[in-house]
Amino acid sequence: MQAPDIWCLNQHGEIELRGLLMAQDIQGLRQRRWGETLRQDNWWAAPLLVFSILMSFIVYSTWAAFQNAHYEYQNYLSPFYSPVLWGDSHHSWFGAQPAWWPSWLPFSPALLILPFPAGFRLTCYYYRGAYYKAFWADPPACAVGEPRKGYLGERYFPLVIQNIHRYFLYIAMLFLMILARDAYLGFWFDNDGDGSFSNFGIGVGTIVLCVNVLLLSSYTFGCHSLRHLVGGAWNKLSGSPIRSKCYGCVTRLNGQHMRWAWLSLFWVAFSDIYVRLCSMGIWHDFRIL
Ligand code: FES
Repeated sequence: MQAPDIWCLNQHGEIELRGLLMAQDIQGLRQRRWGETLRQDNWWAAPLLVFSILMSFIVYSTWAAFQNAHYEYQNYLSPFYSPVLWGDSHHSWFGAQPAWWPSWLPFSPALLILPFPAGFRLTCYYYRGAYYKAFWADPPACAVGEPRKGYLGERYFPLVIQNIHRYFLYIAMLFLMILARDAYLGFWFDNDGDGSFSNFGIGVGTIVLCVNVLLLSSYTFGCHSLRHLVGGAWNKLSGSPIRSKCYGCVTRLNGQHMRWAWLSLFWVAFSDIYVRLCSMGIWHDFRIL
């Protein structure tokens, strides 16, 4: 009898042949220990890379969120701190640090808003697949033994909470509008130093903030939940040309969701670094116009 093939989904969602399943291996496959596998390729490289990048991002963004300093430079505002609901900034919506802020917790405007974009990423369908492998080894990779026998799934507590993703999507779209406004404000400089920010111009920071909005939009508008909302839940799209068009656009972005997820993650961190280093005087913002 010919040995059956082992087919797996790769990181790009494509089906790949990973090996041949021999009859004598079937028992072994069921009792595989953590990390045990028949695979000959470097299956550990992708989860290790995902772990390293996500961990670096978590460490940096947590550090940046607690700084409460150097999050703005002239008309530029770091996306980690936007919107500044309360804070010592001309971007602040409601004034300085609120009286109700607990005294035991160092104040930072970022702590008020970062849980929302963080929740959006944490519950994203793509990231779930990536960090379940990289952080929980559940499983570490396709056809590789995992450190537990039971299958939790997402239908039961605690992972059933991941279904909140759709609601984080609504909030993420709100944040996109705010970041788009920040990018627009990035075109208005205060040449006279009177705090009016009425002089049109383009700096490198303007471009950094605009690219940030573009990448985050490509990531958000390719969301699986959004695809379901705009067309996936409908049996027939042919009678609704606008819905059909929207569905096509979201589907195209969704096909590259992983790429947008990583690009937007890199760039949002870089945007914060750019504003921070300009504010600290380490980088100089070059005015193009
Ligand atoms: S599935 Fe990734 S953002 Fe919604």
